[in-house]
Amino acid sequence: MDSMKGKVCIVTGSNSGIGKETALALAGMGGKVVMAVRSKERGEAARQEIVETTKNDSVELMICDVSSVSSIGEFVKDFAGKYSRLDVLVNNAGAVFNSRQVTVDGFERTLAVDYLGPFLLTQKLLPMLKSSAPSRVINLSSGLAKNGVINFDGLQSEKNYNGMKVYSNAKLLVLLWTYAQARHLEGTGVTMNAVMPGFVATNLGKGSGSRASAIGFGMMRLFQSSPRKGAETSVYLASSEKVKGMTGKCFAKMKETTTIEVSYDKQLQDRLWETTLKLLRLN
Ligand SMILES: NC(=O)c1ccc[n+]([C@@H]2O[C@H](COP(=O)([O-])OP(=O)(O)OC[C@H]3O[C@@H](n4cnc5c(N)ncnc54)[C@H](OP(=O)(O)O)[C@@H]3O)[C@@H](O)[C@H]2O)c1
Repeated sequence: MDSMKGKVCIVTGSNSGIGKETALALAGMGGKVVMAVRSKERGEAARQEIVETTKNDSVELMICDVSSVSSIGEFVKDFAGKYSRLDVLVNNAGAVFNSRQVTVDGFERTLAVDYLGPFLLTQKLLPMLKSSAPSRVINLSSGLAKNGVINFDGLQSEKNYNGMKVYSNAKLLVLLWTYAQARHLEGTGVTMNAVMPGFVATNLGKGSGSRASAIGFGMMRLFQSSPRKGAETSVYLASSEKVKGMTGKCFAKMKETTTIEVSYDKQLQDRLWETTLKLLRLN
């Protein structure tokens, strides 16, 4: 196992599922882990469990709701006030919603949680990632990205909302972003890769708001792997010497994998990049 001693890692959405197991594994390797979560209560319960299991008390809870521009800003300010380096950022938080919701910033909530929030958080942490290079960013995509479509006029999913379709679209955007940003980061020592964690038994979909989808997700549990198994590729990309310097790729089961053809379209990637900067007023 590679050591993470002296490394500072942020894992978003680390109070449950794949994120919790990722935080636990990185803490188990001796890393300083910041659990960026939206609920203090749920986060603290998970933090205590991780500290007890790993005997590593360098595990800190910090509040970050990735659906909120102001919460992300507050988090980055707090983090920069406490830490002088950042070696690993795992953009793990994600969610799927049965009905269309809008965030405080006016964004459709799936787009905000699964794509815009991680994008914004990463841009705000880039100065620290660059000054700590070599450093790594890992973005959670999904095998469902292959069902995704990119519709620049319908990014906010105002018409014919379908939770799984909107989620698949957002996870496809994560791939295009990852490939574009990895190009932008060439020569900086900051790498960025995407992960497809597989089909994992977690809380995903449980809070989607519909009994039918909760039952559906429940039945699928029979075919799913454990959160620990689901976290393996994130942990591998965060810690392994074998992927040192690798960037702009997608990994599944700890191996490089190819993704839907459209995700490699550089013109689309660049258009998405510009569109996202405008949406987030990041010029
Ligand atoms: N499970 C799968 O089969 C699967 C497959 C492909 C990809 N993924 C991806 O893997 C990642 C982890 O999901 P999971 O399966 O482990 O599901 P999970 O158990 O539901 O974990 C998701 C985590 O994200 C957090 N989160 C949700 N909304 C947030 C927000 N606005 N701000 C901050 N944190 C927020 C959740 O916090 P709360 O507890 O507060 O809600 C939770 O900690 C997600 O990106 C998901 O899309 C999962």
